[in-house]
Amino acid sequence: MKLLAPERRILTRDLETPQLHTLSVYESKGGYQNLKKALKMSPDQIIEEVKKSGLRGRGGAGFPTGQKWSFVPFQSGKPIYLLCNADESEPGTFKDRVILEKNPHQLIEGIIISAFAVRSKKSYLYIRGEYAEAARILEKAIHEAYERGYLGKNILGSSHTLDLVLHRGAGAYICGEETGLISSLEGKKGQPKLKPPFPAVSGFLNCPTVVNNVETLATIPWIIEHGGEAYSAYGVGTAKGTRLFCLSGWVNKPGVYEEEMGIPLKDFIEHYGGGMKDGAKLKAVIPGGSSTPPLTPAEVETATLDYDCMTKFGTFLGSGGIIVIPEHFSLITLLERLTEFYWDESCGQCTPCREGTGWLYKMVKGIEHGEGTLKDFNDLQKTAKSMMGTTICALSDAAAMPVLGFLKKFPEEIKAHLKTSAAGDGV
Ligand SMILES: Cc1cc2nc3c(=O)[nH]c(=O)nc-3n(C[C@H](O)[C@H](O)[C@H](O)COP(=O)(O)O)c2cc1C
Repeated sequence: MKLLAPERRILTRDLETPQLHTLSVYESKGGYQNLKKALKMSPDQIIEEVKKSGLRGRGGAGFPTGQKWSFVPFQSGKPIYLLCNADESEPGTFKDRVILEKNPHQLIEGIIISAFAVRSKKSYLYIRGEYAEAARILEKAIHEAYERGYLGKNILGSSHTLDLVLHRGAGAYICGEETGLISSLEGKKGQPKLKPPFPAVSGFLNCPTVVNNVETLATIPWIIEHGGEAYSAYGVGTAKGTRLFCLSGWVNKPGVYEEEMGIPLKDFIEHYGGGMKDGAKLKAVIPGGSSTPPLTPAEVETATLDYDCMTKFGTFLGSGGIIVIPEHFSLITLLERLTEFYWDESCGQCTPCREGTGWLYKMVKGIEHGEGTLKDFNDLQKTAKSMMGTTICALSDAAAMPVLGFLKKFPEEIKAHLKTSAAGDGV
């Protein structure tokens, strides 16, 4: 098993350093030197390095970061905004929190460099309402950065100016979706908007807007220091670099661990998670946050943590939230919790999502309580299918995918909960 050596870590190398969240300690570790270096480069050179790195967004969709930045119409004459997405609400995902609380200056440095690259003078850091402690730490860190001249007018004597505003959400999963986030920031209901136009062209206040995840932006200083090529030397195939994986569920050592993309999932669970708790047998693994379809134990045997392998198994790396499910845990109970969550979080704009999430929850609950028939099983599948790709944003898909995934990969277990009924019932 080849693991990432601690000194090769990109995001967590200094994480154990006491008081790393303070400016003086971050600077003692070389903090903000990459900003100085970046300010001597041209914005286009920075975008080029990020393209070369192969970095893909860590918020879930995995869109190439450099490519997204180059979609911005720099000559439109409108203000350009850079929004940092710290909404982190997908169940099983808690990696951004580690950066926000333990290493906020690495993120702030990443935001300043990225804003310079995309010609933005105003940036908002949108943080979920529940992250009160992280917001307190960030507020202080942003203040320190202003005091030291890293934020504000003519940063470090350069022509780059940036204001960074921390904005606390009110606790809604939908506000993590980039256009929902934009609506919320505009003071409206947190409801997504149709794409196109994509935010890079017309986003916040109808101006060009780049939305990036916390982990994505916190990676930028390292790319400036070492170059895009050095970054792309990490990982495999289309999955470059390292990632913060959140490990939860039935393991001995749940937590956030940085690893190189492409590591075998089984090794990851064994080494970082310390294996299954109480020696339990594995039933399934959710690989990328609760909206991603599960892997069976046979798939876990050969799965590697990269985009292509996950596609092969009909699932995604998503937000990096790995949830380990033991043999004794009921999958229908798990589905009941998940479907209730997505039902509760649907913004209600689109009919397939508003109605569909509630139907999924009701049908799953019925099956869990022994009241479901084979017809309900089939209807559940049909309803979930009808929710895929039919709405403004992907929350509907997020609700449907785990249902479809568990029904497809574990049909016997789900069917075992069905009411034994008269012949022909529900067929
Ligand atoms: C329902 C839904 C919820 C989302 N929640 C988050 C979130 O909490 N954090 C995040 O970074 N991206 C989230 N995303 C993805 C964002 O829409 C967007 O793709 C991402 O912030 C872009 O940043 P990246 O390119 O750096 O990944 C969500 C998407 C959907 C459809």
